[in-house]
Amino acid sequence: MAVDPMRILILTHSFNSLAQRLHSELRLRGHELAVELDIADSVAEEAVALFAPDLVLAPFLKRAIPESIWSRLPCLVVHPGIIGDRGPSALDWAIRDGERDWGVTVLQAEAAMDAGPVWAQARFPMRPAAKASLYRQEVTEAACAAVLEAVGRFDEWRAGRWQSRLPGEMEAAPRGRLRPLMRQEDRAIHWQRDDTATVLAKLRAADGFPGVRDALFGHACHLYDAWPEERLRGSPGEIIGRRETALLRATTDGAVWIGHAKRADAEVAVKLPATVAFAAEAAALPDLPLPGWWAADHATWQDIRYEEAGGVGFLHFDFYNGAMGTAQCRRLQAAFEWARTRPTRVVVLAGGRDFWSNGIHLNLIEAAADDADSPADASWANINAMDDLAEALLRCDDRLTVAALGGNAGAGGCFLARAADLVWVRNGVVLNPHYRNMGNLYGSEFWTYLLPPRVGADGARRIMRNRLPMLAREAVACGFYDACLAGEPVAFRVDVARRSAELAAADDLPRRLQAKRAQRAADEAAKPLAAWRAEELAEMRRNFYGFDPSYHVARWHFVRKSPHSWTPRHLAPHREPRAGATAAPTVPPLEAAA
Ligand code: COA
Repeated sequence: MAVDPMRILILTHSFNSLAQRLHSELRLRGHELAVELDIADSVAEEAVALFAPDLVLAPFLKRAIPESIWSRLPCLVVHPGIIGDRGPSALDWAIRDGERDWGVTVLQAEAAMDAGPVWAQARFPMRPAAKASLYRQEVTEAACAAVLEAVGRFDEWRAGRWQSRLPGEMEAAPRGRLRPLMRQEDRAIHWQRDDTATVLAKLRAADGFPGVRDALFGHACHLYDAWPEERLRGSPGEIIGRRETALLRATTDGAVWIGHAKRADAEVAVKLPATVAFAAEAAALPDLPLPGWWAADHATWQDIRYEEAGGVGFLHFDFYNGAMGTAQCRRLQAAFEWARTRPTRVVVLAGGRDFWSNGIHLNLIEAAADDADSPADASWANINAMDDLAEALLRCDDRLTVAALGGNAGAGGCFLARAADLVWVRNGVVLNPHYRNMGNLYGSEFWTYLLPPRVGADGARRIMRNRLPMLAREAVACGFYDACLAGEPVAFRVDVARRSAELAAADDLPRRLQAKRAQRAADEAAKPLAAWRAEELAEMRRNFYGFDPSYHVARWHFVRKSPHSWTPRHLAPHREPRAGATAAPTVPPLEAAA
């Protein structure tokens, strides 16, 4: 629905992936956007006074919008629940109750939370997955559709030609209800009583936040990142073994893999891979490795999986939160080198469902302080492992490589993808191709070599200076990535498989490979890869070991999720001395780009 450009203030607890997606979608439709993080009523009131929005949009709030704002301005709240559903644990209960079908409702804020008039809604089938995964995929897509529909109604509403209706007045089946905050007592796992399905539902409903309070090896901790195991068994509650980063714990009828834990007694209390959080205890457990990289059936947990079809090798790497520690980079590189021994002509790096990569593993780096290691040394090791992986992609001269981004990517992950010959990205993916938000990191992964030929020197500078998210279609429009494919995840996978099989079968593949080798040789002669890498790493060395502690401070706050005390300037044009101007978009609005 075409709608006149509006001034929209996004009021949100954090600028999370949903807020980022909505911000980008609305900006691309020509609206003027500003973001205010919900810190205090008086600060939100000030933002409204400074920006003078037509509309306030609240994609992710943890408290009510003050009456001083909703009584004067339409405030649209995104609730991750169906019509009639109310309360702060909407998705948590939907997962626990085994709902087969769920939805997102856009309501106008009023005195009672989640009870105002409905402007739009969208439904989706539930998937057996963690809350955060549903939120990043199904909820985000539904919220996007519902918000665009609601915003499209604004002019009609203002002119009195369209009226929103209260949830009780609407025909809705099934209809939701008010449900309380889900507490740790509701989440508790009873290892002696709970079967695998129950344990999985409890862990998934709490993942990524707040986790399930439990204990491992007698130490209090929160658990996250659960996967079913159908073959291995033990006595209920027993920790049976380990594999890579995960621990296997028996239920009454099987077992679950637990990928991450946050220990209550750790000096650095952050979420860590379970075998790192309990390193000594895990080392004493039986190792339960898989025989190789080939994809096992879905009866077990596997973070790196290889499949093959039509002359194409697909390497899936589903690392929690897209964070890639030193060991994960090394294993992925080993898997890639192994994939190159297979009789294929194309290798697709498919990443994970939620994330392709978010770069170096900041939690592991932070936890190095706990380990008599230094975060600077851990950062250095991690960025070198990332660069080794990027270099392995760049030096691969015997087949085409494709990075297929079905999930979001951030920082180094965006540039690692560019080290592949082709980058295909799912429509709807949110990218953050910049390092500056992490304490002005310079960045590596060969971005200085890879970016200018794609986007020009100015384009590269613009991307690196920009701190705002970029949508898949913007990345393609500016030449950073190569193709924006279907938004629906299954359609995306089918499209990737078809296109890569076509590449592998094409008569001109040998010519393409020859051209690739010639280009690499010419580039190497002009300036060796080692020189690009050394220059970037010299800057990173300064970031890690130099006098300016910005990166260490930013990481400290990031991993501990320190509450925001102000809205970063790049999000809040209304707080610039010359109020009103939205930060310059990376590419022109959609209509102009079309
Ligand atoms: N290392 C460790 N954890 C990371 C991570 C990283 N590089 N990137 C993201 N995460 C974690 C977050 O802490 C969060 O954890 P949670 O499950 O405990 O809540 C989770 O991934 C999701 O991140 P979130 O910020 O909520 O997701 P988002 O989609 O809203 O935002 C980014 C995505 C990429 C903008 C944001 O996560 C980010 O800035 N990450 C850091 C990227 C970076 O600077 N990497 C280092 C330089 S290469």
